[in-house]
Amino acid sequence: MRVLGIETSCDETAASVVTLDGAATPVIASNIVLSQIEEHAAFGGVVPEIAARAHVEALDGIIEAALADSGTTLADIDAIAATAGPGLVGGLIVGLMTAKAIAAAAGKPLIAINHLEGHALTARLTDGLDFPYLLLLVSGGHTQIVAVRGVGDYQRWATTIDDALGEAFDKTAKMLGLPYPGGPNVEKAAATGDATRFAFPRPMKGSAQPDFSFSGLKTAVRQAATAIQPLSEQDVADICASFQAAVADALGDRVARALARFRQEFPDKATPSLVVAGGVAANRTIKATLHKLCAEAGFAFVAPPLKLCTDNAAMIAWAGIERLRAGLSQENGFDFVPRSRW
Ligand code: KG4
Ligand code: ZN
Repeated sequence: MRVLGIETSCDETAASVVTLDGAATPVIASNIVLSQIEEHAAFGGVVPEIAARAHVEALDGIIEAALADSGTTLADIDAIAATAGPGLVGGLIVGLMTAKAIAAAAGKPLIAINHLEGHALTARLTDGLDFPYLLLLVSGGHTQIVAVRGVGDYQRWATTIDDALGEAFDKTAKMLGLPYPGGPNVEKAAATGDATRFAFPRPMKGSAQPDFSFSGLKTAVRQAATAIQPLSEQDVADICASFQAAVADALGDRVARALARFRQEFPDKATPSLVVAGGVAANRTIKATLHKLCAEAGFAFVAPPLKLCTDNAAMIAWAGIERLRAGLSQENGFDFVPRSRW
C-alpha cells in the first residue's frame, strides 16, 4: 500500500508518501513540511487568510517534492489522503480540493482524514503500538486525552474547557514580550528562572471532573507581569519558570487520573502506553513530568520524534493506510466537505 498524504489544516503546508508492504514495518518514503511561521510572526499568531493564501501558493510544489523524494509517481499511489478537518477552513479547502482534483484526474480513491486521527495513529507508524493506548494531545489548538481503541474508535476522556495548552504558552510569551511562537521561548527563558518565585494556580488539580483549564493560569500570569512593570530579564525568566512548573503540575494531575482510568477500563493490557503528540510535547519539563508519572504507574511512555509529533502529512498518509487496511475508507470520498470543527 502506498498513500500520498496532504496536510493544510493550520500553518504547515505538508505532503508525504508512506508505504506499507504486507506485514513489514511501514516506511515514510518522503515527508515534506513547509512552515509558515515567518509569515505569521509579525502578527503574533496564525492569520487564517494569510495561511490559506500561503497554502495555495506552496501546495502543488510541496506535493511534487514529496512524490519526487519518494521516487514514486502518481501512477504508483494507491490512494490520496487529505486532512478534511478540524482546522482553519481556508486551509482545509485548499488541501481537500487539491486532493480531490488529483484523485479525480489520476483515478485514485480519496480518503478524507480527521487531523486528530492522524495524531492519534502516529505511534503505530513510529513504534508499531497495539491498541488500545492512551493519547495526550497537546498542541496550539488542542488539549485532549483520548483512549485510542482501534482505527476509527476513539473515546475522548478529557479536553480543555477554555484555552489549549500551546495557546497558554503563546499568550504567556506575548504578555512577557517574547517572540512567536511562544512555547519554545517560554521554555528557553524558564531555564534561567526561579520556578518557586510565583505561586501560580494549578487549574483543576484534584478535581473529579477530568478536563483541563488554562485561562485562570493565564490571568494569574498577567497579574504578576503587570504588577512589576518594567519587567527585568530575571522577572521574565522567573515568571516563565513558575508558569511552566504550574502547567507541568496541573497537566500531571490530569494525566494521572487518566492513567488510573485506563488501568480500570483495560485491565488485560499488561504494559499500557501513554503516547504524547503535539508541539507542546517538545517541552522538556513537561516530558520529564510525564515520564516520571508513567514510570510510577507502570506505563510505557511513548514520544514519537518531534517531526512526527507536530503537524505533518506522514501521519495523514498513515491514517489513510490504516483506514484502507481496516476497510474504513468507503464512507469518505469526493462528497466530503471540509469541517473546521470536526
Ligand atoms: O502541534 P503544533 O506544532 O501545531 C498545532 O498547534 O497544531 O503545536 C504548536 C504549539 C504552539 O502553541 C507552540 O508554542 C507549542 O506548540 N510549543 C511549545 C514548545 N514548542 C512548541 N510549548 C511549550 N514548550 C515548547 N518547547
Ligand atoms: Zn496538529
